[in-house]
Order: sequence, then C-alpha cells, then structure tokens
Amino acid sequence: MKNILITGGAGFIGSHVVRLFVTKYPDYHIVNLDKLTYAGNLANLKDIENAPNYTFVKADICDFEKVQEIFAKYRIDGVIHLAAESHVDRSIKEPFTFARTNVMGTLTLLQAAKQYWNGNWEGKRFYHISTDEVYGALELTHPDGIEPPFSTTASSSEHHLAYGKDFFYEDTKYNPHSPYSASKASSDHFVRAFHDTYGMPTIVTNCSNNYGPYQFPEKLIPLFINNIRHGKPLPVYGKGENVRDWLYVVDHARAIDLIFHKGKIADTYNIGGFNEWKNIDLIKVIIKTVDRLLGNPEGTSDHLITYVTDRAGHDLRYAIDSTKLKNELGWEPSLQFEEGIEKTVRWYLDNQEWMDNITSGEYEKYYESMYSGR
Ligand code: NAD
Ligand code: DAU
Repeated sequence: MKNILITGGAGFIGSHVVRLFVTKYPDYHIVNLDKLTYAGNLANLKDIENAPNYTFVKADICDFEKVQEIFAKYRIDGVIHLAAESHVDRSIKEPFTFARTNVMGTLTLLQAAKQYWNGNWEGKRFYHISTDEVYGALELTHPDGIEPPFSTTASSSEHHLAYGKDFFYEDTKYNPHSPYSASKASSDHFVRAFHDTYGMPTIVTNCSNNYGPYQFPEKLIPLFINNIRHGKPLPVYGKGENVRDWLYVVDHARAIDLIFHKGKIADTYNIGGFNEWKNIDLIKVIIKTVDRLLGNPEGTSDHLITYVTDRAGHDLRYAIDSTKLKNELGWEPSLQFEEGIEKTVRWYLDNQEWMDNITSGEYEKYYESMYSGR
C-alpha cells in the first residue's frame, strides 16, 4: 500500500498519525482529508506541511462526490479513518451533527472505497478508529483505599491495582450511552457490515482516553492545564469519581501504525493505557504539575477545583484490556504516565500561542454558550 488516505488528520490524534506516517514512510503518499471543523487545526501539522509525500485536502467525509474524486485522483489503496465529532458534551447538545458525521460520513467513505476498489481487495485496507465508549460503562468494585498511580505497562496487566475487576475486552457487548458513543457504535457496525457483506478488508480498533500535545481544549486535560495557567475555575463533573484509562497519544499512533500493517483483516483490537485514574486524582496531579512547572508553591491552584452539575448519562468507569494486542502484535504503551503527563503539561505551557489562537474569539463564545446553564 502506497497511497494512504487519513481522514481527520488535522485533529488531535489524526495529526500524530499523519506525522508518524509522513516521517516514517517516505515512499508512501499520505493524503489528509479534513473538513477543518472547530476541532481541525492545520497548525497541528506545521512541521510536516511541506513534506513531498504529504497532501492536504479540505473536504467533508459526507460529500460523496468529493470523496469519490479523492479516491480516484490519489489512487487510494489504504484508509485510516479518524474524522469524527469527538466530544461527548457536544453530542448531548447537538446529536444530529454526530449522526451526520460519524454515521453517514463513515458510510460515505465505505461506499466510495467499495466503488473505487470494485471488488479488487488485494493490498487494500479500510481501518476504522473507534472508542472504548461503545462498550458502555464498568462498575467501581475495588475496595477503597488504593491510591494511584497504577501501573502503565501491559506486563502487569493483571490489573491488580485497578478500580474494578471487570474490563472491556474485544468481545464485550456494545452498550453505548451517549449520542457520541451511539454514533461511533453505529459506524463500527457499518464497517464490519462492509466486510461481512462485500468482503472489504476492514479493521476496527477501540481505544481508551488519549492525552498529549495538540488536544482541543474542550477535553479535560488541556482545558484544565489552560484554566490553571489563567487562574480560572476547574469544573469537576459530579463528585470527580468517574474513572478513565489514559493513553499517551503517540502510543496510540504507534498502535495504529502496527495494526494498519500487521493487523488481521476483519479483526478488532482494544488499545488502552493500563492506566486508570479517578478524575479527581488525575486533576490533583495536573494541578501539582502545572504549579511546579510555573514555579508556584505547591497548593497554589488547589482552590480552583469547582464541583459542578454532572454530565448527563456520565459513564462511571472505562478500562481497556489490550492483552490481545500485546500477545498478537507485541504492542504496549511506551511511556509511564508520570513521564507522559509531565511532557504534556510542559508542551501546553511552552505552546501558549497555539492555545491562545484557539481559545480567543469565536471559539470562546461558543464554549461559553455550551457550558452556561449546565
Ligand atoms: P478531534 O475532534 O480532535 O479531531 C477530529 C477531526 O475530524 C478534526 O480535524 C475535524 O476537523 C475532522 N472532521 C470532523 N468532521 C469532519 C467531516 N465531516 N469531514 C472531514 N473531517 C471532519 O478528534 P480526536 O480526539 O483526534 O479523535 C479522532 C478519532 O479517534 C475519532 O474518530 C474518535 O472517535 C476516536 N477516538 C478518540 C479518542 C480520544 O481520546 N480523543 C479515544 C478513542 C478514539
Ligand atoms: O474513552 C475514549 C473517549 O475519551 C473518546 O472516544 C472521546 O472522543 C474523548 O473525548 C474522551 O471522552 P471523555 O468524555 O472521557 O473525555 P473528556 O476529556 O471530555 O472527559 C474526561 C473525564 O473528565 C470525564 O469523566 C468527564 C470529566 N470532565 C470533563 C470535562 C471536559 C470533567 O469533570 N470536567 C470537564 O470540564
């Protein structure tokens, strides 16, 4: 495969995947298709934008004719599909946008790929990037009194220090709760249906929460880093008891590279950090790290924690078991969480201009309207 279409490459995870493929595979042509919604930002790719093996195309994945044109013009033989509406809170306010992009957009891409490949599946691949949220929510069953940080290596995947005894496995039944996860679940089913019905060589992966550079500051970690820097309140939903499993975004990109090249057709892999945190414990680590790196005495920003009304339908706990990926393809997270969070906080503090360009003007107004009246 030489001509790879990456959708959503101007977003958070997509930009890391584009960077990895453009730099690691000089003989591939990487075509980045992105609509540049509020979440798409070409500044995320400044360092590789002039690479000879890279092309950016501004387009909507729901525009069938345009997508057909892109397949033909660039003779696409592999797709890595990341374009999506990705924020749960937005999906609660505007579910139609999520159904349009995540469901219809994915179907549009599948249909265009099917037409262009025309039954010649040799050397072709349609790889769909999905989320652990499709599995629903897990209970908190572990006895109290065990404090993070937990292990971040698959070798200790017995999870003996985690918050519960259950995990999401590849065969866990789908049970999405938010409009976001319902739309992602639907798109996963369409991708599998195109394999089962037409024989298209598809792969689906379901990943846990990513963190790292270039994440849009509506998501917990960049939002909180920026708010601490500006002395603004940190809105903790509910009691801050919800648990997420955090993975450094570059490790997700590494997994995508490996699975795209070595993954089994029609298969599914879970990707996770082996790194569960209660939100409130994670928030305390972020506060401590930002204060330290800004040279403030410990405790300076603790007062910013503000408990607010919970997210509607807030899933209690996500926890991925990615043992299959480790056993079959040898992947595991390369970064310990302590190192990853330090790098991440440092990156946002060092790239204040990137952040300010996003948080000024129109976006700020939209953000305020989203969160007022919660
Ligand atoms: P993001 O919101 O940062 O980026 C999404 C990108 O898609 C943006 O560049 C946006 O412009 C583009 N896009 C949106 N609608 C489009 C359309 N109609 N046509 C073309 N482009 C469009 O999202 P992200 O966090 O980087 O997530 C990328 C993918 O990974 C998504 O499919 C998401 O469901 C999945 N995922 C994300 C996480 C996470 O923690 N962020 C975890 C697991 C899976
Ligand atoms: O699990 C994978 C998913 O992770 C991805 O599929 C999604 O695209 C991605 O957005 C992320 O979803 P979450 O809803 O878990 O991420 P978010 O950063 O929005 O929230 C993380 C946790 O923090 C969640 O329990 C809600 C809570 N939270 C979030 C925000 C923005 C707060 O308490 N306060 C906040 O202001």
